[in-house]
Amino acid sequence: MGPRRAALRCATAAQHETLESIFGPIETLSDYGRYLLFLTAFRSEVETKLHQMFRFHPVPYLPLQDALAADCRDLGLAIPSPCGILDLSDHEDEYLGALYVLEGSRLGAAVIREKAHRLQLSGDFGARHLDILTDGCSWPNFLSYLETATSMDEEALIAGARKTFSFALEVASGAIHVEHC
Ligand code: HEM
Repeated sequence: MGPRRAALRCATAAQHETLESIFGPIETLSDYGRYLLFLTAFRSEVETKLHQMFRFHPVPYLPLQDALAADCRDLGLAIPSPCGILDLSDHEDEYLGALYVLEGSRLGAAVIREKAHRLQLSGDFGARHLDILTDGCSWPNFLSYLETATSMDEEALIAGARKTFSFALEVASGAIHVEHC
């Protein structure tokens, strides 16, 4: 594992652990629905922020909003959006820190996809976003950029990742109100 990823992983391990403990092992459709609503609300703000704030996207993020909205509709869930704000600075390396959180979540998505399949969900119904997240070579590409980019501000990198995880925790714990439409 490269040194920048190791630093990001270490700096956010406790936040990730808390996030996992909020959602538990995702064994039932209701567990999955709760996770899906959280992820849709969380990514709606993060993706919008990355799109609006950063004109330079060294590694583009993968927008998941359409697939998440379709999964919510499949399960009869009203599409949520958060009323809170992810407070990133306009430092490019904060962007990369936020992107680490989105890209790294692909690793956990493989586990959740298996659980979703056991609940009879699939890439055609209810778990569309998980097929996208677990597909392709986006994570290795991201890691390669992360470890080879020159003149990186590692404090900004870590700040971006920690702020993004804090925002996820606020949405997941209900500290940020979510509106359903
Ligand atoms: C119940 C929900 C979740 C489960 C079960 C889960 C599980 C996992 C697992 C198994 C890994 C791989 C760890 C490893 O290879 O050592 C992982 C990595 C990761 N997850 Fe999650 N995760 C969950 C939710 C999330 C969420 C919501 C986010 C983002 C907001 C997230 C962000 C990450 C990141 C950034 C990594 C990469 C860590 C690294 O650099 O290795 N996870 N997750």
